Amino acid sequence: MLRRKTIIAAEDRPPEHRMARTLGWPHLMALGVGAIVGTGILTLIGVGAGKAGPAVLLSFAIAGAICACAALAYAEMATMMPAAGSAYTYSYAVLGEVFAWVVGWSLILEYSLVVSTVAVGWSGYAVGFLRGLGVAPPDMLTHGPVFSGHLFDGSFQLVSMGVNVPAIVIIGIVAGMLMLGTRESAWLNTVLVAIKIATLALFVFVALPHFDAANLEPFMPFGFGKTMGADGVERGVMAAAAIIFFAFYGFDAISTAAEEAKNPERDLAIGIVGSMLVCTLIYVVVSAAAVGAVYFADFSASPEPLALILRNIEAPGVARIVGAAAVIALPTVLLAFLYGQSRIFLVVARDGFLPPALAKISRRGTPVRITALTALFVSIFAGLVPLDQIAALANSGTLCAFIAVALCMLILRKRAPDARRPFRTPAHWVVGLGAIGGCLYLFVSLSRLTQISFLVWTVLGLIVYFAYGMRRSLARG
Ligand code: ALA
Repeated sequence: MLRRKTIIAAEDRPPEHRMARTLGWPHLMALGVGAIVGTGILTLIGVGAGKAGPAVLLSFAIAGAICACAALAYAEMATMMPAAGSAYTYSYAVLGEVFAWVVGWSLILEYSLVVSTVAVGWSGYAVGFLRGLGVAPPDMLTHGPVFSGHLFDGSFQLVSMGVNVPAIVIIGIVAGMLMLGTRESAWLNTVLVAIKIATLALFVFVALPHFDAANLEPFMPFGFGKTMGADGVERGVMAAAAIIFFAFYGFDAISTAAEEAKNPERDLAIGIVGSMLVCTLIYVVVSAAAVGAVYFADFSASPEPLALILRNIEAPGVARIVGAAAVIALPTVLLAFLYGQSRIFLVVARDGFLPPALAKISRRGTPVRITALTALFVSIFAGLVPLDQIAALANSGTLCAFIAVALCMLILRKRAPDARRPFRTPAHWVVGLGAIGGCLYLFVSLSRLTQISFLVWTVLGLIVYFAYGMRRSLARG
């Protein structure tokens, strides 16, 4: 259960298992920014503002600081062990098999549910864009079921039924592309990333002149720590930070490209830390422009808050441009995470934990079955669960992975102080404990429903491990 895996260097694998090293640091940074900038800043900024008020700015700062610590730990681990498989691989090498299993199981929540969340976010902007063109799809087919009341006191009930069809359709399209072997080329990704950044810059350029300090009053209407409202919704700066956390990750997806980086020792660190810093800078400016331009309560419930803010300040043309750019560029996040998920599943299968039939590679060179299965799984969530709830569950899985990576970094510093570290995290105790403590604080700030769902998922994972995985491990001596 605690056996540890020896990392096989990519160069020591048989040629048919080696991937071509084609990515330099600009590609890796574009990959990172492409995976990070998405539904978090475009949509969850509204959910966050609803929970924290204008103090959502603080929520951004807190989630960003915690992610910066995690990014440094990732940079150290990814450059020490440049193997696809990311947090799962580091945990297998440092903590032992059962921990690797739990982390891998959590990565399924992260990667799969990011795809669901971003698909729902995409749907919000796509439907808004269609309405702007005068096309009105039936309401019931544009969002998942709506519930009211509190799950734990019997007041919970279905308000209206619905299925988020656009979200399911976009997942189908992206999964189809991946199955056909259409990899996001570095070039296409870079163009789409440029569109995303230009769009956010345009938003700031138009919204910032409307900054009115009166919109920031009262700054912290729901307090700092998580508190439960009479309506059963948890609010506060930390409750918002636990959701806004979603906006910052994706830099970890760069570590799954370790076996394709030209100079992994240098470029992975630049890619991970660099993309994280660039995105933090973008988010600070965008969120300040958003809450300064319009009173938070006016956009907090919108499925396309940035477009709504622009319409409120009489810039409907720019709102349409932002909506269209979101529709075009958001799928880069879907592609990156769906691709990362299939990559992680492949590594897990390589270790003997998945039925080999499932990991079969098609004649086109893509893992068709795993991709199809993943797409089906994420479509169910995307079609039927509200955005903020799926995002929160994805966050719980990511928090678990981040804690594991920071723990791996600290343990290795003790266990192998003289090992070669191409990237050394500065003040590693402060950063490592900052990442672990911060992630734990964000976890307790998630809603109770999310925490319970995460625990159920983890227990399920352990049952599968003891009933199946433990016996299948190829690392068994
Ligand atoms: N950080 C990514 C997003 O906001 C997952 O969509």
